[in-house]
Amino acid sequence: MGKFFLLVTLLGLLIVARGVSGSMTCDNNIGMVEELNNLDIEEENEVEFSDIPSWTSERGGKVLVNVDSFGAAGDGETDDTSALQKAWEVACSTPKSVLLVPQGRRYLVNATKFKGPCADMLIIQIDGTLVAPDDPKNWDPKLPRVWLDFSKLSKVVFQGSGVIDGSGSKWWAASCKKNKTNPCRGAPTALTIDNSSAIKVKGLTIQNSQQMHFTISRCNSVRILGVKVSSPGDSPNTDGIHISESTNVLVQDCKIGTGDDCISIVNASSNIKMKRIYCGPGHGISIGSLGKDNSTGVVTKVILDTAFLKETTNGVRIKTWQGGSGYVRGVRFQNVRVENVSNPIIIDQFYCDSPTSCQDQSSALEISEIIYQNISGSTNSAKAIKFDCSDTVPCSNLVLSNVDLEKQDGTVETYCHSAQGFGYGIVHPSADCLNSNDKISQVVQSPQSITYEDDIRHIEL
Ligand SMILES: *[C@@H]1O[C@H](CO)[C@@H](O)[C@H](O)[C@H]1NC(C)=O
Ligand SMILES: *[C@@H]1O[C@H](CO)[C@@H](O)[C@H](O)[C@H]1NC(C)=O
Ligand SMILES: *[C@@H]1O[C@H](CO)[C@@H](O)[C@H](O)[C@H]1NC(C)=O
Ligand SMILES: *[C@@H]1O[C@H](CO)[C@@H](O)[C@H](O)[C@H]1NC(C)=O
Ligand SMILES: *[C@@H]1O[C@H](CO)[C@@H](O)[C@H](O)[C@H]1NC(C)=O
Ligand SMILES: *[C@@H]1O[C@H](CO)[C@@H](O)[C@H](O)[C@H]1NC(C)=O
Ligand SMILES: *[C@@H]1O[C@H](CO)[C@@H](O)[C@H](O)[C@H]1NC(C)=O
Repeated sequence: MGKFFLLVTLLGLLIVARGVSGSMTCDNNIGMVEELNNLDIEEENEVEFSDIPSWTSERGGKVLVNVDSFGAAGDGETDDTSALQKAWEVACSTPKSVLLVPQGRRYLVNATKFKGPCADMLIIQIDGTLVAPDDPKNWDPKLPRVWLDFSKLSKVVFQGSGVIDGSGSKWWAASCKKNKTNPCRGAPTALTIDNSSAIKVKGLTIQNSQQMHFTISRCNSVRILGVKVSSPGDSPNTDGIHISESTNVLVQDCKIGTGDDCISIVNASSNIKMKRIYCGPGHGISIGSLGKDNSTGVVTKVILDTAFLKETTNGVRIKTWQGGSGYVRGVRFQNVRVENVSNPIIIDQFYCDSPTSCQDQSSALEISEIIYQNISGSTNSAKAIKFDCSDTVPCSNLVLSNVDLEKQDGTVETYCHSAQGFGYGIVHPSADCLNSNDKISQVVQSPQSITYEDDIRHIEL
């Protein structure tokens, strides 16, 4: 009944909107909104996850592989890398094993690759702390971009109340973002799960990473539940959870605060669902960046449902570089509360995170079918909604519904550049600039808007 009423209202609004813009048909719009509203991603895959045993509830038949039995000192100072490697070899090759990092101890571990495939039903139980050596000078030059790197795993559970600590402070100080005289070099990701499927990660804390905290790459079917990620708000490029070339990923009940994106979703990822996410400090929840160095990027079917973002530089963001190709299509951001966030809703197709400024280019990713629903709270910038799209490849079918953003002692507005779409229900600030091409060009030509563009276009420099 409610849904029907909504559709009727929407239909009415569309007829009005069509009168103004005259560019597309109502049927298409309703179909598109309905499709976006119905977009869902399976949360539990019965076949893949039902047979994963829970080690705390029922220990019978499991083989415990404790790192301490392989000579680990667990004092935070002795190098325990080889003990952990030996324990991995045994656990990985033994069916039903539990690789245990015991509680209350710290294990100093160097950059290491843990390769599968492993025997069935492996559980990695981290209750203690794994800590990385802190000096970039001693880092293994053969593994410059990873610390704990797991690959080719299937049906593996990572769980426990333990901590993965990247000891990143010296890496941050050596970053070119911190000190322009430093060379720009990539730093390790604390935890990587690559080329794997049916993976569950539950309850761990990942902190103070050298660079990104947790990367899921080339994976299918991943559940990340109750994971905490934390590092200082000024630590450079320390994305929380980074999803790349992966499908069917659920990130749920996670609390993330870092110096970069809380969650970032990049190339070749689809069917990504984020649910009940707390983000802050950080740069918000992002799709992208995509299209760097003229590359192709494709991201489809992304849902964010229920999030609270506090004092972040962005809320929900899509960011692409000029010169790229590909598309972002089919995204629903819903039930998002922001508090003192700078850019609560933003599409930035002029993203440039490079020490030199970026050249203007005409090709771009195509952004379409993005719905923002039930987004409210406070912002600290006047442009609460910014749709800054490519001149040659405009954004299309951007939909705002029940959006209410306020700025303490100030008015808020929506900025549109080359952006088409519509709003329905309450939309504050108004979505008017989306459904009139005339208004778009007016905004672009006003001298004031040139200032907005400048501040939008070099956000992270
Ligand atoms: C880590 O590996 C590097 C290079 O092999 C070595 O120089 C360094 O001492 C190791 N650090 C620790 C803590 O084992
Ligand atoms: C930046 O790095 C240079 C060379 O590494 C160093 O001499 C300088 O003191 C650093 N500046 C700051 C502000 O830390
Ligand atoms: C790893 O990648 C290869 C090649 O793409 C693929 O065939 C294989 O299924 C992947 N392994 C897992 C566990 O996802
Ligand atoms: C994007 O993903 C596709 C498919 O996995 C891959 O072939 C391509 O190289 C990726 N592009 C970039 C820039 O990583
Ligand atoms: C991207 O394409 C533009 C235009 O063709 C070219 O000028 C530029 O050098 C290219 N950049 C890279 C990194 O390939
Ligand atoms: C709107 O979002 C808020 C959280 O920001 C949530 O509490 C509320 O239930 C949502 N309303 C609907 C109708 O989903
Ligand atoms: C909002 O955040 C800014 C920093 O981004 C801070 O200076 C300011 O005090 C905050 N305002 C409120 C009302 O919390």
